[in-house]
Amino acid sequence: MTAFAYRGGALHAEDVPLEEIAAQAGTPVYVYSQRAVEGAYRRLADAVDARIHYAVKANSNQAVIAALARLGAGADVVSGGELHRALAAGVAPAEIVFSGVGKTRAEIALALAQGVGQINVESEAELRAVSETAREAGRTAPVALRINPDVAADTHEKIATGGAAHKFGVPAGEAARLYALAQDLPGLRPVGLAVHIGSQILETAPFERAFRALAELTGSLRGAGFAVERLDLGGGLGIAHDGEAELRPETFAAAVARTVGGLGCALAIEPGRYLVGNAGVLLTRVIRSKRMPSRGFVVVDAAMNDLVRPTLYGARHPVATVARTPEAAARDHVDVVGPVCETGDVLAQGVRLPALEEGALLAIGAAGAYGAVMASSYNSRPLVGEVMVCDDHFAVIRPRRDPALLQALDRLPPWLAGD
Ligand code: LLP
Repeated sequence: MTAFAYRGGALHAEDVPLEEIAAQAGTPVYVYSQRAVEGAYRRLADAVDARIHYAVKANSNQAVIAALARLGAGADVVSGGELHRALAAGVAPAEIVFSGVGKTRAEIALALAQGVGQINVESEAELRAVSETAREAGRTAPVALRINPDVAADTHEKIATGGAAHKFGVPAGEAARLYALAQDLPGLRPVGLAVHIGSQILETAPFERAFRALAELTGSLRGAGFAVERLDLGGGLGIAHDGEAELRPETFAAAVARTVGGLGCALAIEPGRYLVGNAGVLLTRVIRSKRMPSRGFVVVDAAMNDLVRPTLYGARHPVATVARTPEAAARDHVDVVGPVCETGDVLAQGVRLPALEEGALLAIGAAGAYGAVMASSYNSRPLVGEVMVCDDHFAVIRPRRDPALLQALDRLPPWLAGD
């Protein structure tokens, strides 16, 4: 299903005209299609024989988590804040995996108190910290050891995580010693292995290499007498948004089956972007167009503080006019930029658009993942709002934050206050 499509010349989110959302909720605003999230979940769940733990970091709005939880998804969280959100949105504690290279003792204690289903541990020091915290709390922590398989993923360097030079996981060569340590330390129950090699990956080869490494380790750990009940295969499934070929869930599933399918382990995956990326657009209004000697610019009311991916990763997000314009009306290539005072404040570079008047609406696509969650209030801009659409209705699921509230949080130190 295509959640965002033209009807009668106007771009809709499901059955709702985006124009109507912009008029009521204001711009810039993220708009998500609940049916698109559900469709992506079902497609993945039908294809892959593994438990799905939604990586909440991709889009942590509780409405999004709740929509997925209702379908049976668990959650993968990386902070106390994400853990609270997942619980509040209705994910059962036992269905939550706590990942991340820098969990604090307070966060570990919180996870244990809530009874999370699995803590993925990334170093010997963390193993010891979890053991001590568990002992203090009188609990037993189910831990999986995250392996760094040293594989290169063909993605942006800032979001590859499975290389030997990256901070994540433990080297495969240390896995046996650390698994034995986990077995010996009080308060721990080693349940299996985990891996996550990076994000926005569109080919299966790097996944296969990583999963094979897990399969080999599983074999040697079992040979040494350890139980390896679970394999957590991480996230990273990419989405096609700039004309690339998509990574079909069935192709990914076949790679899973080939590598770790026959081991008798309970399998889990932690997808984020795949479930929500194409289910969202950033809706923005044109402030004005301007022409410089070398190129044209469309200045819109969204900026790098609302969607930082083009600036940070050089990501190419598609741009569509909300009022359908005939192909012939598309002029030369222009840059879509925001009002922030940085040359890097570019939302889309060299896109073909028609002449756009003040007030025209644009939808920036593939913005459902790592969009709103990475937004800031840089330049004292209001933190962007979010709307969810379901069939023919929509609701504001996070109002735009008033900059006056933010300003009110500042405090003058006593030596600057007063007259
Ligand atoms: N599991 C772990 C341990 C992770 O670190 C991540 C993402 C995921 C799962 C989910 O990955 P996904 O399926 O969404 O690719 N801000 C960047 C992406 C950072 C991803 C970080 N870790 C971006 O905008 O592209």
